[in-house]
Amino acid sequence: MMKQSTKEISDIAKTAFTPLYTRAKMGFELDTHLVAHSFEVILAVNDQNVVIRTKKFDEFVIDFLELKPDAVIGNFGAGFCTRFWRVDNGQVLWMNFDLEEIIDIRNIHFPKDDRCKDIPCDFTKEKVKWDFDLIIAEGFFPYLKKEVALEHITSEIIFDLSKKVSNKWIKWSYEGEEIKGLNVISNDRLIGNRMSGSRKMWFIHAEPGQ
Ligand SMILES: C[S@@+](CC[C@H](N)C(=O)[O-])C[C@H]1O[C@@H](n2cnc3c(N)ncnc32)[C@H](O)[C@@H]1O
Repeated sequence: MMKQSTKEISDIAKTAFTPLYTRAKMGFELDTHLVAHSFEVILAVNDQNVVIRTKKFDEFVIDFLELKPDAVIGNFGAGFCTRFWRVDNGQVLWMNFDLEEIIDIRNIHFPKDDRCKDIPCDFTKEKVKWDFDLIIAEGFFPYLKKEVALEHITSEIIFDLSKKVSNKWIKWSYEGEEIKGLNVISNDRLIGNRMSGSRKMWFIHAEPGQ
């Protein structure tokens, strides 16, 4: 019989279900399997932007791995992210970090792989000490205060921010075309929709900017 997670999870951790659900709805194979067989998900979301964002992040990571196939990647606020299985090139070392309650669920329901680790971490309380080649922070930084988020940028990073400050956890949003103090490689605005406002993605080098 399929194991079930019975623990209550916090409202912040529940946000991880939205991307999983929307990916499943758009036919991402592993996600469809996870939603259908492992979770009871009752959501009324229709956020195509989340899936467009996921695809853009996938493209960025695939390109990155072509340049550095044995990269060490830190996926911060990973939630129920399944990107590892979409981009795996047989060499990448992948680390998913999230709150313990999320990692517990991943441990029950997600496939295992020696090159894909799931590690509990509360980024408001601790700092991950690892030399990453790339950090991914998809849909995660809005849940941190800006000054806390900036402390965690220790390598090249791809992250996004939502312009609309639409819920009580979101403490910062992007302003203008630059994020002060960081070298922006490029950024990309997505088409907004009524629910989520426009989203912007940032591809950033860790060295301080001018
Ligand atoms: C909107 S979800 C995004 C999940 C995933 N990156 C994706 O795109 O599918 C936000 C995630 O951030 C995690 N999170 C929020 N605050 C956190 C913190 N202080 N430390 C670690 N994870 C946190 C939540 O548990 C959740 O999994």
